[in-house]
Amino acid sequence: MKILLVGSGGREHALALGLRADSACTELHVAPGNPGIAEIATLHPLDVTDNSAIAALAQSLSVDLVVIGPEIPLVNGAADSIRALGIPVFGPSKAAAQLEGSKDFAKGVMLDAGVPTAHSFTCTSQSEIEKALDTFGAPYVVKDDGLAAGKGVVVTDDREAALNHALACNRVVIEEYLDGPEISLFGISDGRNILAMEPAQDFKRALDGDLGTNTGGMGAYSPLPWAPEDIVEMTYENVLAPMIAEMAARGTPFVGLLYAGLALTKNGIRVIEFNARFGDPETQVLIPRLKTPLATLLYSAATDNLDDKVLNWSPESAVTVVLASAGYPESPIFGNEVSLPTSSAATIYHSGTAQSEGRLISKGGRVLTVTGIGENLSSARAKAYATIKGITLENSFYRTDIALAASKGK
Ligand code: AMP
Ligand code: GLY
Repeated sequence: MKILLVGSGGREHALALGLRADSACTELHVAPGNPGIAEIATLHPLDVTDNSAIAALAQSLSVDLVVIGPEIPLVNGAADSIRALGIPVFGPSKAAAQLEGSKDFAKGVMLDAGVPTAHSFTCTSQSEIEKALDTFGAPYVVKDDGLAAGKGVVVTDDREAALNHALACNRVVIEEYLDGPEISLFGISDGRNILAMEPAQDFKRALDGDLGTNTGGMGAYSPLPWAPEDIVEMTYENVLAPMIAEMAARGTPFVGLLYAGLALTKNGIRVIEFNARFGDPETQVLIPRLKTPLATLLYSAATDNLDDKVLNWSPESAVTVVLASAGYPESPIFGNEVSLPTSSAATIYHSGTAQSEGRLISKGGRVLTVTGIGENLSSARAKAYATIKGITLENSFYRTDIALAASKGK
């Protein structure tokens, strides 16, 4: 099977390694990729915002499967352009990707599907906004309706800050505050069936102790020893399966990865958000633990063939730590030389790196993600941190407390 994977981050590096590990994958093309992915796949230049360029590349390579990593091409409808050529795609249509592209749309589907989420109002005027803020009270949760690259959500006790953020959005969802630990639980769907993956936890704040600003994610781990034992079944029954059924009933089946961001509240699980793609950096802990051959699995999903399929997992633990450019997420400093150890106990995934005059340099906010695997979270942490300490990159930082509490049984 010839596969084209679209994207260029740490998520795509982990997916590329997973696809390569499946002997069914005979040729792997990645566009645009990065220097880490170049070691295991053929790279092609690509503007991922150009649907016809993506479709043309898939056609010229005569691939059997396209896997789309990032949200922007999905929300733009790249999967539709590729499907129109008769090529199987792992990734939702433009209509189905609205689950990530519009918070208001996602709320409507959840309402119809009976999926538990925070009560909310969608507002377009100042009077609606003020009424919603005062209905729920502090802490205020204010979400830009559209894609906002991780900058769309403000959670604050400050009514004025909440109001200002809401007024800066075109359409805004204001919702009830959900109290409880957050987890990420993904499902792989062919449009009718959905296979729930194991849960992971992402660390969204920039600094140790969950301080600092929200980021795309500074680290992750899986499994979650503290989570309820039936968390996967509960999420499947109450969230993933009803969402897939509702999307199919609307005539817009969701084929691809449905990412449920959940809060475990004292009243039960509640959906915080959906994404229409693999999460980053959760993918860097889930794919190394997934034993089911990945290329075959994603091809089965893309060709409506997940009946009777199951996922098999390694019992080992995985911890990933993000090495970020100083100033990330607001104003990352990059262009610095990256020096990697020649051998390491952990896997180093490239996120924002580039080659420049024969040197590896930093090119993005998140530069590398380092995943350690071990028999428990402590040994996985030890490997990830030993490896990250051996990387030299001026103007960089990482969190030192990824999976720390969970490794101590908290
Ligand atoms: P999102 O972009 O939807 O993932 O939101 C970013 C972060 O805001 C989440 O990871 C949560 O920490 C927080 N958040 C979003 N919605 C709520 C909510 N209803 N209650 C509490 N925190 C929330
Ligand atoms: N890790 C959060 C995300 O991928 O959106």
